[in-house]
Amino acid sequence: MFKPLILLAVATLALYSCQSQKQIQETDRESYRPNYHFSPEKNWINDPNGLVYLDGEYHMFYQYNPYGNEWGHMSWGHAVSTDLIQWEHLPIALEEFSNADSTETMIFSGSAVVDRDNTSGFFETGKKDGIVAIFTSHVHSNNEGLRQHQSLGYSHDKGRTWKLYDKNPVLDLNMKDFRDPNVFWYAPEQKWIMSVVKPQEYLAQFYSSKDLKSWTLLSEFGKKGDTTKIWECPALFEIPVEGTQEKKWILTISSGHREKNYLAMQYFVGDFDGKTFRAQPQEEILFIDEGKDFYAGIPFNNLPDSQQNPIMIGWVNDWEYANKIPTEKFRGSMSIPRALSLKSTPNGYRLLQEPIDLKPIYKDEVSFDGLEVSGAETLDFTGDSYLLTAEITMGSAELVEIQLLKSGEEASILSYDTGTEMLSFDRRKSGHTSFSDRFPSVEKIKVPLQNGQLKLKVLVDRAMVEIFANGGAQALTDMVFPKKSEGKILLSAEGGKAVFSRLNIVELK
Ligand code: FRU
Repeated sequence: MFKPLILLAVATLALYSCQSQKQIQETDRESYRPNYHFSPEKNWINDPNGLVYLDGEYHMFYQYNPYGNEWGHMSWGHAVSTDLIQWEHLPIALEEFSNADSTETMIFSGSAVVDRDNTSGFFETGKKDGIVAIFTSHVHSNNEGLRQHQSLGYSHDKGRTWKLYDKNPVLDLNMKDFRDPNVFWYAPEQKWIMSVVKPQEYLAQFYSSKDLKSWTLLSEFGKKGDTTKIWECPALFEIPVEGTQEKKWILTISSGHREKNYLAMQYFVGDFDGKTFRAQPQEEILFIDEGKDFYAGIPFNNLPDSQQNPIMIGWVNDWEYANKIPTEKFRGSMSIPRALSLKSTPNGYRLLQEPIDLKPIYKDEVSFDGLEVSGAETLDFTGDSYLLTAEITMGSAELVEIQLLKSGEEASILSYDTGTEMLSFDRRKSGHTSFSDRFPSVEKIKVPLQNGQLKLKVLVDRAMVEIFANGGAQALTDMVFPKKSEGKILLSAEGGKAVFSRLNIVELK
């Protein structure tokens, strides 16, 4: 909130200071609910599922526990949006169900497609808006133990009500771990393509189908890149290369993090000919997001033709501590939707990520352009939900810090070291951290300056910070749980003077 310009009456002031005292002492757990990022009304969520656009509506399904705020009873929750920012919660789409042998089938992650030409036969011919969900049926059978196979659900009414296909499953290898089907329409050969993983084998498989019901194995890709954690939630999609007519293919996999035993998403760049994905040689593992809290992201299907760039949403959490984060009514939230493109660089193709346009939710805006910083300076701003855009000319400064969500000694610290060219985010003193010894952490990524400048776009939303550096060439998403709520911003420079040639903060509704 911006500092009020009008002097308040003494009585109001007393009340205000009394309330803020309370807030400063202990932040109400519900205040960890993001303002402009998606979170469920109540209960647990994880992966986004079935992201699909249809007739002006973006659908988001997601892994949801209808009965509590820890993982379990997995079902598909559902929300819709017309602008990808403001979401309307809808009833559960696909719910965990009981089997004849009194075991349960959970609805694990998957995707959704619009079956425009009724290839599946589930819809009336001529109706072009049938949605088919392709998900993992996760069943604990009394005879066979745990099994995972791929199954279908379908909806005639834009995702409001669903039926399960009576001949499920449609793809069964009789395996314990085989999941997360991601399906798209491959127009050149008029067929559906599914990517799906064998997690324990670090293997993605590609299948094709004409009717979504019978699937043929095309090829496999795996045992490359990061194999420190199992492979989950694959997605294969085409992507434009910036400034050219060229298109490439990207395979994303949710797996291990640069820092051992955390989770992240990696990607491979290559070509896909309708059968085989061939990755270009790469000397390093490529991560989508360098933070600890961006996982299981998938792109939207069926975007309008005007939207050439894939749009991805990820789950903001990390299995290392996901069930313990100190929220109460709800647990889990989604990233801001990000438009993806590819850039050709001397090191090969690299992903660029741009948060979708947030103008519809802009509130008050404040600029501190041309601010020279040597020493420390607290900005005349307080808030917990905003977009901060900065262009920093590092000048003679050796280290520049932006302390976010600062109350007294507590802060989430974003800093840049000119000597090492490392951008880092330190949440060790960000507030509540002791709920898991895996949580307190510092992330570092190499971000070379561009003409002596560092460009940042930082989305702060109460318990979440998403950082995009140098036009989205690097992204870093981390949760933080401030105990106090003064929401100050402190800038500092060590070793010399830095100039914030541009510093703009927009409050977001
Ligand atoms: C990824 C994941 C998926 C699985 C789902 C279960 O976060 O483990 O592989 O389908 O979550 O909720």
